[in-house]
Amino acid sequence: MPGIKSSGEKKLVLISGRAHPQLAIDIAAELGSELIPTDARTFANGEIYARFDESVRGADAFVIQSHTNPINEWLMEQLIMVDALKRASAKRITVVAPFYPYARQDKKGRGREPISARLVADLFKVAGADRIMSVDLHAAQIQGFFDGPVDHLFAMPVLLEHFRVKLDPATLTIVSPDMGRVRVADIWSDKLGAPLAIIHKRRDPLVPNQITVHEIVGEVKGRVCLIVDDLIDTGRTIVQAAEALMAAGATGVVVAATHAVFSPPALDLLQNPAIQEVVVTDTLPIPEDKRFPTLTVLPIAPLLARAIHEVFDEGSVTSMFEGAA
Ligand code: R5P
Repeated sequence: MPGIKSSGEKKLVLISGRAHPQLAIDIAAELGSELIPTDARTFANGEIYARFDESVRGADAFVIQSHTNPINEWLMEQLIMVDALKRASAKRITVVAPFYPYARQDKKGRGREPISARLVADLFKVAGADRIMSVDLHAAQIQGFFDGPVDHLFAMPVLLEHFRVKLDPATLTIVSPDMGRVRVADIWSDKLGAPLAIIHKRRDPLVPNQITVHEIVGEVKGRVCLIVDDLIDTGRTIVQAAEALMAAGATGVVVAATHAVFSPPALDLLQNPAIQEVVVTDTLPIPEDKRFPTLTVLPIAPLLARAIHEVFDEGSVTSMFEGAA
């Protein structure tokens, strides 16, 4: 049409929920960008409201939220922000959920159970999300729950570099704390050139977060054991694994986990003498009162920022992990 011109320039818009603003600030800084000023509030009855103070029309928008406790509130806030973006004519909306909410409810283990991870994907879709970006999904197949692109990032290169300089592969064993982590632990074992051990863990299906360790498969006697997990919630999985490994003759235990959920009594349990160091990333906020002397927190913002850059620039997220670490 005469008189109407398109600038042709893509507009990157970064939006933060209120759960973990520091992570969004760090991502924006890595990208040399800024967060869009946003008015987000909770009304007296618990309803959430969000409005962006600048135009997002035609933008490539990334909504960053960290699903920490109270997880349902932060999920709802992110959905509302996505809805607001859709109604304000953003061109593409990416949900950045470094810790995918409800990821552990990814299948029907017993009759009459929900598959809540699928429900969350449906909620994001209905709200208006075009794609999802997440880090270390509890199960990779969650990607298939969302009908659209999912950028599944791995914290392994970040965590692995920390340990590579500290641990000697000659005396190291990588440990999967349950059957669900074997594949990831196997990759760690390849990358560090150390053997793999597997713990047979059992859950009480009637009591949340209750587990028992049954047996250890693999050589751990006289070795330093590096337990690799996607998340630490109450800490029971890690502590029971660490105690079992020490009882089996390990000389020390260190832990790598991506998501520090740290629900009580994690703080007490993780300061167990059997555990020399716990290394996590900041996909979830870790306030001072959740920190302890043997905890190391590595920043995840550079990884997320690079992935956002690749998506915005129509580059390759896969290339970020090719030959990584
Ligand atoms: C289990 O499948 C997960 O990978 C974690 O090991 C587990 O959810 C951690 O929970 P907690 O710290 O409460 O044992």
